[in-house]
Amino acid sequence: MSNASVQATVAATNQAAPLGYYNDKVVKQFAIATVIWGVVGMTVGLFIAAQLYWPTLGEGIPWLSYGRLRPLHTNAVIFAFGGCALFATSLDVVQRTCHTRVISDKLAAFVFWGWQAIIVAAAISLPLGYTQGKEYAELEWPIDIAIAVVWVAYAVLFFGTIAKRRVNHIYVANWFYGGYILAIALLHIVNNISMPAGAMKSYSAYAGAVDAMAQWWYGHNAVGFLLTAGFLGMMYYYVPKQAGRPIYSYRLSIVHFWALIAVYMWAGPHHLHYTALPDWAQSVGMVFSLILLAPSWGGAMNGILTLSGVWHKLRTDPILKFLIVAISFYMIATFEGPMMSIKTVNSLSHYTDWTVGHVHAGALGWVAMISIGSIYALVPKLVGAKQMHSVKWIDTHFWIHTIGVLLYIASMWIAGVMQGFMWRQTKSDGTLTYSFVEALQATYPYYFVRAAGGLLVVAGMLLMAYNMWKTFAAAKPVQNPVLQPHPSDARVA
Ligand code: HEM
Ligand code: HEM
Repeated sequence: MSNASVQATVAATNQAAPLGYYNDKVVKQFAIATVIWGVVGMTVGLFIAAQLYWPTLGEGIPWLSYGRLRPLHTNAVIFAFGGCALFATSLDVVQRTCHTRVISDKLAAFVFWGWQAIIVAAAISLPLGYTQGKEYAELEWPIDIAIAVVWVAYAVLFFGTIAKRRVNHIYVANWFYGGYILAIALLHIVNNISMPAGAMKSYSAYAGAVDAMAQWWYGHNAVGFLLTAGFLGMMYYYVPKQAGRPIYSYRLSIVHFWALIAVYMWAGPHHLHYTALPDWAQSVGMVFSLILLAPSWGGAMNGILTLSGVWHKLRTDPILKFLIVAISFYMIATFEGPMMSIKTVNSLSHYTDWTVGHVHAGALGWVAMISIGSIYALVPKLVGAKQMHSVKWIDTHFWIHTIGVLLYIASMWIAGVMQGFMWRQTKSDGTLTYSFVEALQATYPYYFVRAAGGLLVVAGMLLMAYNMWKTFAAAKPVQNPVLQPHPSDARVA
């Protein structure tokens, strides 16, 4: 039978015997939450960027102090914005690729409302000054326990849906999402083991260099599995969908998955160069970081080359532009990261704004752009529309976001390298050429440029929020039927 006639048969069977409907409610809820938390988290980012230029901003108000708002920013953008984008897309992808509704609507609702409650708890407790003092794991023990409970519920929802799939094959995007769900559970639980010493106070189970190693094993793999593997799941579904082409090499996607999973776990010590951590452990971290370049770029090429033959679509489709430029930023960050992990390079980059530039090449370039593109790609189908309210606004968003990110990362790269060299420069008698304050003064113009870039990014997010609002306002109630699997892959129960 030709492919066209198989598709016609599948379509006819769908008409005759619908298999129920996808749970798009939870996807829609998380998609809306992504945009709301994106606006909130990035506005806080803009505020702290402004504080670094105008240090008296918020002076005298403890909950507006830089030290409290910085973790609020990182938690809001990573776990609220990025997290909700991952929930929305993974639950969309797992249902569509498994040809089945999620196993339980109640569990889906629990995961959504549980996660929002955690975000609100974080948004209150961090400005009040409650923190464990571990970067990206600041939240105190009662909230940590809530995270573990909601995360396990999410894992049951996701893997349960895979278990009841109507196709034999588990599409590669689900492998990436599955890997990130399991790894984050492991990282979160191990790094947060602590002894409570009050309702909002605890002491870590680890001490000294072991504590540092556990923390950066967590920190680096939060980057590797949450900020990378989860978003690669998005890439493997939404790039082929939006391009209307199969992934460039399915075989490469499998190699990509296993290589990434195997290598990432060992690279954490590159955050602890020249510290009390044993030297050999630092070197292991460096070597594995260098190896990471290969799977990272191989996977990125797999995403980009999916456009082979349809490059012209980039001219007219701003969603595809978001997705493809996101992958380009991913390549930038994953080239830069291995270079920064080389000890001699790290001795220059560490403590400087170069690290912050690297972080945002990954965060604003890769994570935010792939999320924004994927959310624009999935929203119309949730409301039975062909496209978002305004495609032109998506294009405008693309340009202001891209210019904003470039201003951000270029200013931080220049500032960082400059700081590194100013700090280490010595006179012939061995004393320092520049005082710390002189290096700080030289950095000010770059902090202004970074804040200007941030302002553009926030403006783009507000435009996205308005576009979503208009799209939902014009929506009719719609239920999307579960599609029949292709007969060649149908799973016999
Ligand atoms: C409008 C957009 C944004 C602005 C203006 C912004 C600004 C900032 C600023 C000023 C800092 C503190 C840097 C320092 O302490 O020297 C920071 C840190 C950070 N931001 Fe953002 N940010 C934005 C978006 C994002 C997004 C979308 C993410 C993640 C998805 C993100 C992740 C982070 C992380 C992980 C750090 C900590 C970096 C480190 O410790 O080296 N940011 N951001
Ligand atoms: C091959 C991939 C990568 C490698 C080998 C790598 C390596 C590094 C290195 C060496 C540092 C500096 C550590 C220090 O001096 O303290 C760093 C910092 C960081 N990187 Fe990457 N990176 C990679 C990709 C990424 C991506 C894609 C993202 C984001 C999506 C990212 C997010 C971060 C963050 C958040 C930090 C700052 C951590 C902190 O000090 O708070 N990295 N990375």
